[in-house]
Amino acid sequence: MQNHLNDEFVFRCKLVGSVEYIKSGKDQLILSKMVKICCIGAGYVGGPTMAVIALKCPNIQVAVVDISTARINAWNSDTLPIYEPGLDEVVKKCRGKNLSFSTDVEKHVAESDIVFVSVNTPTKTQGLGAGKAADLTYWESAARMIADVAKSNKIVVEKSTVPVKTAEAIEKILTHNSKGINFSILSNPEFLAEGTAISDLLNPDRVLIGGRETPEGKKAIEALRDVYAHWVPVDRILCTNLWSAELSKLAANAFLAQRISSVNAMSALCEATGADVSQVAHAVGKDTRIGPKFLNASVGFGGSCFQKDILNLVYICECNGLPEVATYWKQVIKVNDYQKTRFVNRIVSSMFNTVSGKKIAVLGFAFKKDTGDTRETPAIDVCKGLIGDKAKLSIYDPQVNQDQIQRDLSMKKFDWDHPVHLQPMSPTSVKDVSVVWDAYTATKDAHGICILTEWDEFKNLDYQKIFNDMQKPAFVFDGRNVVDAEKLRKIGFIVYSIGKPLDDWLKDMPAVA
Ligand code: NAD
Ligand code: UGA
Repeated sequence: MQNHLNDEFVFRCKLVGSVEYIKSGKDQLILSKMVKICCIGAGYVGGPTMAVIALKCPNIQVAVVDISTARINAWNSDTLPIYEPGLDEVVKKCRGKNLSFSTDVEKHVAESDIVFVSVNTPTKTQGLGAGKAADLTYWESAARMIADVAKSNKIVVEKSTVPVKTAEAIEKILTHNSKGINFSILSNPEFLAEGTAISDLLNPDRVLIGGRETPEGKKAIEALRDVYAHWVPVDRILCTNLWSAELSKLAANAFLAQRISSVNAMSALCEATGADVSQVAHAVGKDTRIGPKFLNASVGFGGSCFQKDILNLVYICECNGLPEVATYWKQVIKVNDYQKTRFVNRIVSSMFNTVSGKKIAVLGFAFKKDTGDTRETPAIDVCKGLIGDKAKLSIYDPQVNQDQIQRDLSMKKFDWDHPVHLQPMSPTSVKDVSVVWDAYTATKDAHGICILTEWDEFKNLDYQKIFNDMQKPAFVFDGRNVVDAEKLRKIGFIVYSIGKPLDDWLKDMPAVA
């Protein structure tokens, strides 16, 4: 019966999963097997991405697998391992139907037609390229395992952000261990932002699929394109070669981070000149060639990827004999570090050049609002800076618990980007840090308040009550420009807002990093 059908058509229909019957002349083929997708890595990318694929493709079976039992247990519980608006609803709709979470990695990989790999790709801390290059240990072990357990042809999709040419390396691992099975490698980088992951996935600006320019490569691209085509308009699904897809991901993050460093560099100049960075950003962003997004000055960008991906890009430039290009991108990170140091210095110099023994309330620890993620959050460097000056910190974040904060403050740079159970742990927690569960407890008897995440609730706190309960003079250092500085000044606070005209109190204080 199958002979009547074009092989490619059968393969694609099978992968699309939206047809149970394929008609060909008089014959009717009943597909014996539903299309199966498996994703290795149940993290911030793997979990939400697969949940949305399951939601939009009811005829595709999606299994998300991970080596972390705790993570998988959480995905199977009522308290998901990550906080992301809208995620609970999507998972609840599909879990137990066509979406499952499991630690049985090998079984699900063996059964799948398409295997996404969305594992950690940390920055190397040792050896060649330490401090810059991506550590592909987890990726390589996933690839070797796929080759080991596969009994049928598979499309293997790079979902993790990886250095350019990783696909080539993965392809070699797979083909050299293939036992006659065909593997097609695709690069399908993810562009979702945390806090808006579900809406980004449901309505992406673009989906990017890179593949080999061979007949098999093109078939694989089409198969994956057909999955996304269930809900993404085809003109937003971009198909390129492998290297362009891999590099586009690094380039997109570098461009985004560069905008933030540009506006943050301007914020320092605004403070020096009396200009207001919000007004400057608004005026600049009105130019349609520049556009208004991603121009909010802040205490610095954080998140698991911007720094890591730029370091990775810098390393690739260096390896390709392009030191000037490497230096150009390195500067984006330098300005980000400068901004965090500048913020700490501003706090210390405003408070009579010492915060020793003073209670400082830290409002917000996550790297941005609407997520509980703290990876590379600027709060870590700011808190460490203040602790270095012997401050006593009282930290409140609506989504981050004490364990996580203590872990973040005791971990070495880059150690966070490993599966949780493999993260090196410092045996002691950081002294002089308490973590509390509301802003009023955090600020009671404090000398100063630092706002480090732009949670909406920080806009509408009862600042009069907070002022009454604080030591005087009472300071607010707004690292996200969320509070109404004029209103707070009327209450009696001394207010510092990034890139805004300075309070008289702050004008004569040096704060250069
Ligand atoms: P994560 O740490 O949240 O998740 C990775 C998961 O992979 C962990 O749960 C870990 O236990 C698991 N894992 C590692 N090795 C494994 C193996 N061999 N077998 C099974 N499971 C394994 O990371 P993430 O934020 O989801 O990021 C994953 C990748 O996606 C990274 O390359 C990252 O750069 C990229 N990315 C992240 C984002 C984001 O917003 N977080 C966005 C785009 C791209
Ligand atoms: C970012 C990109 O936006 C995603 O496209 C990409 O997929 C992802 O990285 C990734 O590869 O991991 P994310 O880090 O989740 O997403 O969040 P962003 O909204 O980009 O914010 C990153 C950091 O920049 C946050 O700390 C945020 O507060 C800061 N930021 C953002 C600013 O300081 N100013 C702005 O104007 C915008």
